[in-house]
Amino acid sequence: MVFLRAPVSPWCNGPMQVRPATPADLPALLALDRGAPTAAHWSESDYQRLLSEAGRVTLVIEDRYVQGFVVARGLGPEWEIENIAIANSGQRRGLGRRLVEEVLDRAQTHGAQAVFLEVRESNRAARGLYSSLGFVESGRRQSYYRNPEEDAVMYKKIVAAAAPESY
Ligand SMILES: CC(C)(COP(=O)(O)OP(=O)(O)OC[C@H]1O[C@@H](n2cnc3c(N)ncnc32)[C@H](O)[C@@H]1OP(=O)(O)O)[C@@H](O)C(=O)NCCC(=O)NCCS
Repeated sequence: MVFLRAPVSPWCNGPMQVRPATPADLPALLALDRGAPTAAHWSESDYQRLLSEAGRVTLVIEDRYVQGFVVARGLGPEWEIENIAIANSGQRRGLGRRLVEEVLDRAQTHGAQAVFLEVRESNRAARGLYSSLGFVESGRRQSYYRNPEEDAVMYKKIVAAAAPESY
């Protein structure tokens, strides 16, 4: 299984760079997915497909090695963050924040109005990340998740610049 030897480092080495993921990142994406029980879990072919799909934004953050990724669906006025994972050893160093900020910037640049996402109610880290970036709760889906069953909390952040007031 190729992803068992993925280039995900246990340490952070040097400055971090954010860039679009390429097919060469597939092993790292899978390793990060498999290493993060609270992330959304997709198959290798799912990741392969989303790398070539129009309207999908998949970014990685790396130093010498890939330390994390984010996947967003970015079409039209409503963008959605679908998955994010940071290597265990790289967490709480601002990497998740940088990836989400990059998605927000891209959404704004492409004329989006708002960015949405949903997260397990118990996922304190992710909820803390989204709240710290100005996402606000916009609803709940009861028993949305399985294994274990749990509510989804929905978040929304407006990214459209306010129209200038006219006099
Ligand atoms: C959620 C996740 C992506 C956060 O990434 P991260 O790089 O560790 O987060 P950051 O260092 O950028 O943290 C930014 C802010 O988020 C909040 N936060 C992050 N981790 C937190 C935690 N464990 N508990 C509470 N708040 C947390 C804090 O407000 C933090 O700011 P601070 O460090 O100044 O207090 C990471 O924990 C992860 O990969 N989790 C497993 C996968 C997952 O659950 N994905 C979400 C699916 S919806």
